[in-house]
Amino acid sequence: QGYLQSRIHGESVYNLEGKIGGDSSLSPRGRKYALALPDLIKANLGDQPLTVWTSTLKRTIETAKHLPYQKLHWKVLDELDAGVCDGMTYEEIEEKYPEDYNNRDEDKFNYRYRGGESYRDVVHRLEPVIMELERQQNILIIGHQAILRCIYAYFQKLSQDDLPYIKIPLHTVIQLTPKAYTCNEDRYKIDI
Ligand code: F6P
Repeated sequence: QGYLQSRIHGESVYNLEGKIGGDSSLSPRGRKYALALPDLIKANLGDQPLTVWTSTLKRTIETAKHLPYQKLHWKVLDELDAGVCDGMTYEEIEEKYPEDYNNRDEDKFNYRYRGGESYRDVVHRLEPVIMELERQQNILIIGHQAILRCIYAYFQKLSQDDLPYIKIPLHTVIQLTPKAYTCNEDRYKIDI
């Protein structure tokens, strides 16, 4: 029993190219992860029924493709909106919007992309998801980096300063099981 979360979908084409945001499909490596995911889950969690939550973006839906469970696609789980920077690399952002780049560096939690969102905005938008997670059990979230950082920080009681830097490694399932104050944590990784 417990909350489960998987990083980040499998590797996407944009991940490979170092671009943020967008709605690209999985890379060949990401597709291998998606194929291996059902066995990884079964080996570590057994046959218990799960409900899979993804965003509405291709990379999470494709990662969930082979999982034999009920699936829900939440718009509210879509990745942090990078506004005018969507589809750019960090180098391009630094070149085109140097002031924004520095502002983000100085206060990553509060920095809001032009025409987009901040981590603070995402924390608010995730409130209904968190409420559902508090009520339900055995949820597997196939999520995005910023989104999983917010959910993880909530359950592990991490500060706003630390939240935007939490490491959510690629191709790893993080299992969170509630205990008194925070959660027990197990990680299952696939090397691809
Ligand atoms: O690079 C993948 C990604 O999910 C982007 O879409 C998103 O903007 C970014 O990670 C969030 O990470 P950070 O806040 O560290 O830039």
